[in-house]
Amino acid sequence: MITIKDVKKDYIDGDIKVHALRGVSMEIERGEFLSIAGPSGSGKTTLLNLIGCIDSIDGGEISIDGEELARRKAKELVEIRRHKIGFVFQSFNLIPVLSAYENVAIVLEMLELPRGEIRERTMTLLHEVGLEGMENRRPSKLSGGQQQRVAVARALIKEPLIVLADEPTANLDSGTGEALLKLMKRINHDRGTTFVFSTHDPMVMDYAGRLCRLHDGEIESDEKRSV
Ligand SMILES: Nc1ncnc2c1ncn2[C@@H]1O[C@H](COP(=O)(O)OP(=O)(O)OP(=O)(O)O)[C@@H](O)[C@H]1O
Ligand SMILES: [Mg+2]
Repeated sequence: MITIKDVKKDYIDGDIKVHALRGVSMEIERGEFLSIAGPSGSGKTTLLNLIGCIDSIDGGEISIDGEELARRKAKELVEIRRHKIGFVFQSFNLIPVLSAYENVAIVLEMLELPRGEIRERTMTLLHEVGLEGMENRRPSKLSGGQQQRVAVARALIKEPLIVLADEPTANLDSGTGEALLKLMKRINHDRGTTFVFSTHDPMVMDYAGRLCRLHDGEIESDEKRSV
């Protein structure tokens, strides 16, 4: 479903060119629960941002569900992202002045769905991720784990094909991080949503059905695992 072929990405940092990805190839099937590991600076975030249509590709090709991403205009990438991809950021990126409910519902409001449907879908999902009774709280009145659950609900509400999560547990204690992984795994199982996440955390890697290791912008290993 996601085909990544010889993908390259360079950043210019002053006079220096940084080769963040040096020709990465992999196939990701529908319904996978895949972890991308590797040391700091190995290219994990860069790869997720390219798959997530957040940044442009410098060489090679990525296609998602048959749609090629290279050489697209920024506006077209936004459309693909809006319809197919949910993103969970390490730092949650919730809107502080909105309640948990509003942070999730806003995604459907932007798609201009009917009010009743927005309410029904948002409430159902917030309960599914364990936030019953906390719908009206702002992020500052929620724990880190609860905020990350709101972020996961926001990524899932439009029922994307793919959820990309960049170190989703990095700001959580290990118990809360594990609960979040169980939640993502359950949604992966129940809905068949594809999850691709990056991590440094061995506990997170333990949950992955496939573990791909990056090193200096190249794939060092890629193995399926039984969990
Ligand atoms: N905007 C940028 N400008 C210049 N260099 C960048 C930029 N973003 C990333 N890089 C460089 O590209 C390389 C890959 O960075 P990336 O953020 O993908 O690594 P990472 O594996 O996610 O690291 P971490 O585990 O620390 O999050 C690094 O050498 C980094 O310094
Ligand atoms: Mg990173």
